[in-house]
Amino acid sequence: MPERMVATSWLLLIGLAAAATAVVLQARAQPDSIGFISIDCGLPGTANSVDDATKLSYAPDAAFTDAGSNENISVEYVTPTLAKRYLNVRSFPDGERNCYTLRSLVAGLKYLLRAEFRYGNYDGLNRPPIFDLYAGVNFWSRVNVSSPDGLESLEAIVVVPDDYVQVCLVNTGSGTPFISALELRPLKSSLYEQANATQGLVLFARRNFGPTDATDIIRYPDDPRDRVWLPLVNTAMWDVISTTNKVQNLDKDPFEAPSKVMQTAITPRNGSDNITLFWDSEPQPRFPTPGYILILHFSELRLLPSNAVREFLIEVNEVVWRTSLGSTSIRPDYLYSDSFYRTAPLLAAARYTVHINATVNSTLPPFINAIEVYSVIPTTNAATDSSDVSAIMAIKAKYGVQKNWAGDPCGPKTFAWDGLTCSYAISSRSRITAINISFSGLDGDISSSFANLKAVQYLDLSHNNLTGSIPDALSQLPSLTVLDLTSNRLSGSITPGLLKKIQDDMAITQTFALTPIHVSRQRGRASLPSTLLSL
Ligand SMILES: *[C@@H]1O[C@H](CO)[C@@H](O)[C@H](O)[C@H]1NC(C)=O
Ligand SMILES: *[C@@H]1O[C@H](CO)[C@@H](O)[C@H](O)[C@H]1NC(C)=O
Ligand SMILES: *[C@@H]1O[C@H](CO)[C@@H](O)[C@H](O)[C@H]1NC(C)=O
Ligand SMILES: *[C@@H]1O[C@H](CO)[C@@H](O)[C@H](O)[C@H]1NC(C)=O
Ligand SMILES: *[C@@H]1O[C@H](CO)[C@@H](O)[C@H](O)[C@H]1NC(C)=O
Ligand SMILES: *[C@@H]1O[C@H](CO)[C@@H](O)[C@H](O)[C@H]1NC(C)=O
Ligand SMILES: *[C@@H]1O[C@H](CO)[C@@H](O)[C@H](O)[C@H]1NC(C)=O
Ligand SMILES: *[C@@H]1O[C@H](CO)[C@@H](O)[C@H](O)[C@H]1NC(C)=O
Ligand SMILES: *[C@@H]1O[C@H](CO)[C@@H](O)[C@H](O)[C@H]1NC(C)=O
Repeated sequence: MPERMVATSWLLLIGLAAAATAVVLQARAQPDSIGFISIDCGLPGTANSVDDATKLSYAPDAAFTDAGSNENISVEYVTPTLAKRYLNVRSFPDGERNCYTLRSLVAGLKYLLRAEFRYGNYDGLNRPPIFDLYAGVNFWSRVNVSSPDGLESLEAIVVVPDDYVQVCLVNTGSGTPFISALELRPLKSSLYEQANATQGLVLFARRNFGPTDATDIIRYPDDPRDRVWLPLVNTAMWDVISTTNKVQNLDKDPFEAPSKVMQTAITPRNGSDNITLFWDSEPQPRFPTPGYILILHFSELRLLPSNAVREFLIEVNEVVWRTSLGSTSIRPDYLYSDSFYRTAPLLAAARYTVHINATVNSTLPPFINAIEVYSVIPTTNAATDSSDVSAIMAIKAKYGVQKNWAGDPCGPKTFAWDGLTCSYAISSRSRITAINISFSGLDGDISSSFANLKAVQYLDLSHNNLTGSIPDALSQLPSLTVLDLTSNRLSGSITPGLLKKIQDDMAITQTFALTPIHVSRQRGRASLPSTLLSL
């Protein structure tokens, strides 16, 4: 029998505020003036929807993906306060991997990505699916929307290697992937130092202490970075301390917790109690022992009289944390936000327990303003070389190539595009080395973008309907040794550049409607008369 109530609480109570939205007429496929990209997935037409709570404008998603279809959630899950972005979804019944591409980013900078999934029985099957989510070429999370009216909101902090990032949904055979909303927010590089080029942070919990209303969510504009701070309410255990004064961030603050979050804190109702919080490890299929990063935010909100001391220690799974000065006692500053965290993940455990205990010299009980818990994911899979990506994307768009051409062309290896061969190397970008898009119904001229695939050795465009001449720029491809143009409707003659390349080391295969001529050359052999090559 418990003798008294221990101030212990789960971190993961679910709290959701829904907001109605208005509509403005504007489509946006690029970051807005504050660098945000907000997408209402499945929203048809060109009109944006504006969220009532944040006043942020959500663009329809057609400009960000070329696959899937728009669906409405079932009427029984439509409530008057439901945010407009949850009314419809985009679902991806075809293809193993389908992606959104978010452009106009800055390569090497840090971004917060948030993907939201509210099933709402849009397909009438009453069976929420389970599928995988990728940030670029790296696995982000499994999506498991366990109930039709549940909202799964997944957030990651990642450094993007290119000036775009793709968010991909992967069908794992447990239902059709879908998505309700997708958001990208830029972060200063100095924030969340635990997120870098080789590791990302996946949000586990971000809780604000102090609100007494479970729908009192803080995000943009109170948090200029639009992190979502869910309240953790337990009025039976905790008293609220609050202020209307602004809580400042110190120079070079590593997290910049917003003032609105820091303006409230909780303290034990019984002044001799300590604060105890815990969470249980949630193993993921890919990460059976997730590495957790814990960040605690404090600001003293009372101007203490000179005879009062508020001092506490932080103990996490039996380890008492030390400050950078080596002390275990913490006295948070008045109206400045202060954070305690480690750069390395906590030692793996089934349960993580955090004690915030008054020290013997403290005359006042401990408090806490906010907490964040992340798990670490590796982001070491290299994306394809960005100029190869731009070139092959342009080729895909020009010819409307169907196949499975979605996401990164080469990575991860299991999802590489059909017809492409890539080179993979540790710690360098994948390159496209061979392309076979024969028998693919390509028409129009030969795209000049082929000439930008600088690592290509083998290019097979045979058995299509290509017209026009062979671009001389292809001769600039340093590694090209085989060019197969058999069975097209090309015209013109082989340019001097290509001719030289053929004489050097390249084989070219070409046929004509009336007089098929095959010219096939092996590396550096005797030259053929140029008349034979003229088209
Ligand atoms: C979704 O609902 C809207 C508004 O009620 C309607 O105009 C639209 O046709 C519906 N779309 C689908 C795919 O059913
Ligand atoms: C999905 O979530 C449900 C409910 O939380 C759980 O029972 C089930 O094991 C989960 N499935 C997977 C594959 O994670
Ligand atoms: C990212 O941080 C981890 C953990 O601190 C470190 O091991 C890794 O070397 C860092 N990566 C880069 C690219 O700085
Ligand atoms: C507060 O906690 C102390 C120590 O656990 C206990 O002795 C005391 O009865 C509690 N006071 C109240 C009002 O519950
Ligand atoms: C609170 O923490 C202090 C210091 O760690 C400890 O001495 C004290 O017993 C704790 N109080 C309770 C009620 O557990
Ligand atoms: C902190 O207080 C808790 C009880 O509230 C106690 O179990 C724990 O041992 C204390 N930690 C330290 C370092 O005193
Ligand atoms: C408590 O305060 C006394 C007097 O200032 C000091 O000597 C002692 O080291 C302090 N104890 C702790 C645990 O901070
Ligand atoms: C190129 O693709 C075609 C059609 O898919 C296939 O028949 C052919 O074998 C492929 N060529 C090579 C070298 O893989
Ligand atoms: C090639 O293009 C011509 C003219 O547009 C068309 O009639 C023909 O059906 C096309 N052939 C193939 C195989 O796509």
